[in-house]
Amino acid sequence: MKNKKIKIAIVGIGNCASSLVQGIEYYSINNTNEGLINLEIENYKISDIQVVAAFDIDSRKIGKDLSEAIFSGENNTTIFQNVTETGVVVLKGKVLDGVSDSMRDYFVVDDTQQESNVVEELKKSCANILISYLPVGSKEASIFYANCALDAGVGFINAIPEFICSDQVWINKFKEKGLPCAGDDIKSQVGATIIHRILTRLIQDRGQKITNTYQLNVGGNTDFLNMLDQSRLVSKRKSKTQAVLSNLDNSDSISTRIGPSDYIPHLRDNKICYINIKGTQFANVPFEIDLKLSVEDSPNSAGIMVDVIRYMKVALDRKIGGLLEDVSAYYFKSPKIQMREDVAKNIIKQNYK
Ligand SMILES: NC(=O)c1ccc[n+]([C@@H]2O[C@H](COP(=O)([O-])OP(=O)(O)OC[C@H]3O[C@@H](n4cnc5c(N)ncnc54)[C@H](O)[C@@H]3O)[C@@H](O)[C@H]2O)c1
Repeated sequence: MKNKKIKIAIVGIGNCASSLVQGIEYYSINNTNEGLINLEIENYKISDIQVVAAFDIDSRKIGKDLSEAIFSGENNTTIFQNVTETGVVVLKGKVLDGVSDSMRDYFVVDDTQQESNVVEELKKSCANILISYLPVGSKEASIFYANCALDAGVGFINAIPEFICSDQVWINKFKEKGLPCAGDDIKSQVGATIIHRILTRLIQDRGQKITNTYQLNVGGNTDFLNMLDQSRLVSKRKSKTQAVLSNLDNSDSISTRIGPSDYIPHLRDNKICYINIKGTQFANVPFEIDLKLSVEDSPNSAGIMVDVIRYMKVALDRKIGGLLEDVSAYYFKSPKIQMREDVAKNIIKQNYK
């Protein structure tokens, strides 16, 4: 008999976590499919998702109820839903490389409390799934929390561009434990990546040639602030670039520059993306496309996470371990196996109701 509640634990109570937690309450109150890819997945509704544990390292979030912590510290995404007290208190995680030197004034690392034992807390909370929303560039911290998921016997969703669920070694570890995983790096509902992927593919499918393209992104949240440090940005640039190029033919011949470009504080969680595509059309005549996208960044990712969580729970119910290939291909920028969206969607449709 399947357990109706989907118990999740979250690492990194930043803007993405805020939108996810607000969204769970929003769709629990409003029985609508507006804004969703799926109202139900194998009878699971968004209201079946319950956060049972939360970890952060910021002193302004630790010790607070999750309903308060999601609006604390530097979190500045839009508030679309007040959240009732959850009874889940944010615990202190392990810092490692989660906070770079340049971010120490913004992620205020707590030095008063003991780190919690993440594995024990995951077990105690009876979590089914751990979600990583760590800052970009958190390689060691990603490895630490992925190992915690393995040791605690919970599934793992990697929302960030560290290559865990696209790495066969990690996939094998989850498979051996009979635990599902999905990742890497959430591909937002309608964000820069999917628009760039689909538009460039459309151009090639219609017989035209792309000679060069760029995608510039700016925003005013801590995600963008953190990515000002070029050394932390390598994985994000790689993830975003391969998400577009993997969908194209002759990608080696296309001059490309894709990635986060600047931090503009007053934009807050509003992300602005500029896409430029140049090429040639019929009879070698040149064309150029300029596109601007303006979108609230974090709810755009939460719309994806509410589906991934439910597919993960179905996999747990079915005792499927290892990578959810179809789900990762449809919902993430850097899956182990890249697929066109329509192909991935069809496979998901065959595998789940
Ligand atoms: N649309 C999107 O917003 C989107 C899409 C794809 C990927 N992502 C990725 O998701 C991640 C989260 O994004 P966000 O906007 O919520 O970031 P954020 O900066 O708002 O939040 C990060 C949180 O992690 C905490 N943290 C830092 N080190 C930690 C550690 N070692 N242990 C526990 N917590 C730690 C910080 O204190 C902060 O609360 C980023 O890597 C981002 O690139 C976001």
